[in-house]
Amino acid sequence: MGVDKAVIPAAGMGTRFLPATKATPKEMLPVVDTPAIQYVVEEAVAAGLDDLLFVTGRNKRALEDHFDRNLELEEVLAEKGDDARLRLVERSSDLARIHYVRQGQPLGLGHAVLMSRHHVGPQPFAVLLGDDLIDPRDPILPRMIDVRERLGGSVLCLMEVPREQISLYGCAAVEATGEPGVVRVTDLVEKPPVESAPSSLAVIGRYVLDPAIFEILADTPPGRGGEIQLTDALQRLCHPGVPGGGVHGVLFTGRRYDTGDRLSYLQAVIQLALEREDLGGPLRAWLMGRLGLPGGE
Ligand code: UTP
Repeated sequence: MGVDKAVIPAAGMGTRFLPATKATPKEMLPVVDTPAIQYVVEEAVAAGLDDLLFVTGRNKRALEDHFDRNLELEEVLAEKGDDARLRLVERSSDLARIHYVRQGQPLGLGHAVLMSRHHVGPQPFAVLLGDDLIDPRDPILPRMIDVRERLGGSVLCLMEVPREQISLYGCAAVEATGEPGVVRVTDLVEKPPVESAPSSLAVIGRYVLDPAIFEILADTPPGRGGEIQLTDALQRLCHPGVPGGGVHGVLFTGRRYDTGDRLSYLQAVIQLALEREDLGGPLRAWLMGRLGLPGGE
């Protein structure tokens, strides 16, 4: 069966961004002028995934409104003849078929994925996290879907990170497959201490999962931080002989922007704004001025 559904968990507490996330999901925080989650939705659609399921929490209104029509705003912009902004407003409601399921309590990413079981059914599906923005010039999902279709099982997106940062991520132990850029994942550990991490390969927020994950998640006790961890369930799928098992990793070497914590979020915003035609020049000059560099304003 092909992959055409994507699950986008957006029910976390976003505690690292309080108070901004008191009434707004962190996935709605703007990266330059577009909510992080819209970049993720556009990536899914570009990869041919046209059925999207958001797992939402207590503040789902902002998400639903963003991907719905806003007739009043559209009318005002049309009356003013502001076609460019009108197109921007219409775009987010025309992107894809979006469905919603509620995660009553934020019991962890694994639990959020489990909430999608009924909607997804017995077919492989993608999961995309709003914390990781993948540059559209370096798409990785199509490659992951291709690996799933050829090799079966589940597929992770792995990225080499500086060794001292591996304790911030899920970490994969891997062996070669003979195919460049594709490895077999033999073990997974969530946020290991640097000394005992099996590699410097971090699990990034893109997954293509076999539906066997649901049975395992339903039976996965809370792990690190008292949350039901997706990594713990995936770890069980790494073991040989587990039905629906087999986990591969696709190595990602492209441009990725982390929006998960405040510093990396600010870096992502600046990086992406510097690349914008309308903002890049003046922002660069201002930054150089702030840093006392020649040519700055
Ligand atoms: P994070 O752990 O980064 O999100 O989860 P968080 O818990 O909201 O962040 P902090 O640490 O409190 O700041 C990764 C992804 O999983 C979703 C989040 O919305 C995010 O997209 N998630 C996490 C859920 O949907 N439900 C949960 O119970 C936990």
